[in-house]
This record gives sequence, structure tokens and C-alpha cells, in this order.
Amino acid sequence: MNLFATKPIATLRAEAGAAGEHALTRALGPLNLVTLGIGAVIGAGIFVITGQVAALYAGPAVPLSMILVGVTCAFAGLCYAEMASAVPVAGSAYTYAYATMGEFAAWVIGWDLVLEYAAGAATVGVGWSGHFVSLTGLFGIHIPASLTAPPTQWCTGGQVAAHAVGCAHTGLNLTGAIMNLPAVCIVILMSTVLVIGIRESARVNTLIVILKVAIVLLVVLVCLVHVDRANWTPFIPPNTGDWGTYGWSGVLRGAGLVFFAYIGFDSVSTTAQESKNPQRDMPIGILGSLVVCTVLYVVMSAVLVGVVPYRDLNLPAPVAYAMERIGAPWWIRVSVDVGAVLGMGSVILVMLLGQSRVFYSMSRDGLLGRWAGEVHPRFRTPYRSTIYTGIAVCVATGLLPLQLLGTWVNIGTLLAFVLVCGGVWILRHTRPDLERPFRVPLVPLVPLLGILSCLGLMLTLPLDTWIRLAVWLVIGLGIYFGYSRKYSVLHRELAGKK
Ligand code: ALA
Repeated sequence: MNLFATKPIATLRAEAGAAGEHALTRALGPLNLVTLGIGAVIGAGIFVITGQVAALYAGPAVPLSMILVGVTCAFAGLCYAEMASAVPVAGSAYTYAYATMGEFAAWVIGWDLVLEYAAGAATVGVGWSGHFVSLTGLFGIHIPASLTAPPTQWCTGGQVAAHAVGCAHTGLNLTGAIMNLPAVCIVILMSTVLVIGIRESARVNTLIVILKVAIVLLVVLVCLVHVDRANWTPFIPPNTGDWGTYGWSGVLRGAGLVFFAYIGFDSVSTTAQESKNPQRDMPIGILGSLVVCTVLYVVMSAVLVGVVPYRDLNLPAPVAYAMERIGAPWWIRVSVDVGAVLGMGSVILVMLLGQSRVFYSMSRDGLLGRWAGEVHPRFRTPYRSTIYTGIAVCVATGLLPLQLLGTWVNIGTLLAFVLVCGGVWILRHTRPDLERPFRVPLVPLVPLLGILSCLGLMLTLPLDTWIRLAVWLVIGLGIYFGYSRKYSVLHRELAGKK
């Protein structure tokens, strides 16, 4: 049996275009795709992580970390754009790997995408809950602490040695809380919208995107007049002696962390089967959302460290703190909290959308149970994969701590980017004749730079993140060899069993 058997692109295109009970609705135009990308990108990253990265690693040079990540994502985004226009199928990186590197690589990347989309949605769910609780607090509504925190926390060896509160042993410890109820509720709400329809989901997302981009612009405008240039000097504070704390190594380490803020533009490619004209519009959606978010991020992070000394930004809500510090009126402070809550809400929506479409594609190929490929007769959405994804994400976001969930997301996404860049290069050799409505310039230079820069960012992540990635992939291999290999449609066809 050949682990490297590839799925013919003609078959993929034919399946994606086929009508019938498993067909999805083609309802999305280019503007919907750009807003879906922005909806998935702007969230916890800019509202929370940027401040922490400035305070702990990059100092006022955090916009440099943003630019580095923006360039890395541009290499990957160009490769996604070519793949999505040449192979416009719902599975995104999973399908591209199936067409270029074979079934085994496709399974690995499909399994890896769970870390980006499902673990991403669960991570942002926890961040959403924190901002939601602070917002309700402003209106005098207080939710009991035992219902807004997970019953578990992750303790390192160092924390156990230092007798940190609640850390009896290394690994998961119980906290006494019941569950993170607001996080569970937002995942249920967004999953319900997704089951009801792609048009409805896109409308909810567009509305949220308009509001959150307006709030980001408002923050930038309000901050601009309060920027104190002294806060920008020294732009790159000297290294403290530890690798990754200030100096150029801090800019790099900061880049590895703010990468989280960029995750999501690639999820546009999972809606290829719901796009009206995917060959033309996929590149517009992927690259358009990336450009808009990069500009907003660089400007917003620059003004943030311009109004507040970077050392003061290691906070759960640094943007809200900046507003307080410059004495912004009450309504602007509330708007920032609303922007963060809405922003993270649409990130969860689009991440759940991406995950359900990847499962849908894997099921259609026989690598997952048939349940994941079922399309609702009235709503025309892959409702079963959406509901089961929602349940799994509810369990994770309600019960697991942020420290555990968050570490998987960056490394899982970077691995997917590496494989997509590699896929473009391979496909140019194996199928030079293939119709490519969008072509990456300067192949193999751009895919190669994409691979190297993503690997570089992966190397800035701590060793335990790599170990967790390896554990996750080993579990995936168990499922592949125990189940998927046996039921693979491609293998059955190759073996002539059909
Ligand atoms: N990019 C997304 C966020 O910042 C995951 O929340």
C-alpha cells in the first residue's frame, strides 16, 4: 500500500464542482472572503498578546516583530493563494498536501490543522471569556469566579518547586473551579450560527468586522495625539543577558509569539467550495485580509508602545489600560472592551468554520467517519462536523487552561504553512501544465523563503511546545494506521476494491 499516493487534481476539482446531497452552497463573493479573513485574524493577538510581548521580549520594537511576521505570512499567503486558486476545495492545506505529497502527508497536515482551528477556537474562547467578564463587570453584573475559570491549571516544574498556588505537581492540577461557562456559551452560539447557514455566518462576521475595525481605528486615532516619543527610545532596549529578552533576539522571540495575532487569514481557503468564483476570489480573500491586518497591526502596536512605557504593558487587557492611562472618555473604554469581545467572537466563528470544512473534506476522502461529510438537507452546511467540532471545542475551552491550549496553536499553524509552501514548489514540478489563475512570483525563491521563515519562527518556540506537537502527531498516526488507512477511498480505488 502506497502512503505517498496522491489524489488527482482533476478528481478533486470534479468532486468540488459536483452537485448532489453533499454539495455546499456557493454564496461567498470577494468582499465576504476578505471580511472572513479579517474576522479570523483580529482578536486576542492584538488586544492581549502585543502588550505582553512589548513588556517582556521586544520592548518598543514590537512593530518590528509585527513586520517580520507580516513578511513571513506574505510568503505563506502567496502560496496559499496559488494553491487555493488551482485546487479550490474545502480542505485547504489538507487537500493541497493530498494532491502533492500523498495521503500520509495529507493526514498529518489534516490532523495538524486541528491544532490551528479547534485549539485556536478554544484558546480564543478563554480570552473571550476574560474580556466578557470584565465588560459585564462594568455594568455591575458579576459572574461567580468558579464559573469563569477552568477546573484545571498547568504547572511547570519551576512553579512546583516555588510552591506556586495550586501547583502540587507538574502538569495538570485541579483549581476547584467548575468550568469556564462564558467560553462554552460563545462556542455554542457560534456553532449554532454556522449550522444555520454560510450566508448567515458571513453576515454575522461582516457586521462584527465592520465594528471591530472601526474600534481599532478609533483606538489608533485617540492614541495618536498622546504619543510620547520618549517611549519609543531606545527603540530596541539592550539585551538583558537572557536570549529573547530585548535586543534583536527579543524582536525574534516576540515575532514567534505575535504570530498568533496573524493566524486565520489562511482559513479563507477552507471556504473554497462555498465561494462563487474561487479561482479568482480566493487570492483576493487571502492576500486582501493579510494586507489590511498587517497595516492595522503595525500602526496599532506602534501607538500602543508610544502612549504607555513598554514595561507597564504586561497586562490581561493592555489596550484597555492604555485608554485608561490617557484618560479617554468612558464610552471609548467600553468600546475597546466591546471591540475585543466582538473581535474574538468572529475569530471563534471562522476557526470553527475552518475546522468543520477540513473534517468535511477528510470524511469525503474516507479518512474520517461518514458523519463528518453529511450536509444538512435544508441549511446546506456540514452540520454534523460543525456540531461535533463545537462539542469538542466546548470541552477544551471550558475545562483546559490557556497555557496548555495556546502553545499548540502557533506551532501547528506554522507547520501547516511550511507544508503549503513546499506543496507549491512540488506542484510546479509535478504539474507544470496545471491551470493556475494565481501564480506565486519567483518560484522557488518565495516558497523557499516561506519555508525558512516559518521554520525560523518555529525554532523561537520553547522545547515543550515541540514535545506537545510530537505527542499530538503520534496520536494522529495511531488513528491513521488504526482506522483511516483502511477506509481511504483512494486506496480502495487503487486496490480495485470498488
Ligand atoms: N489571530 C487570531 C487572534 O488574534 C487567532 O485572536
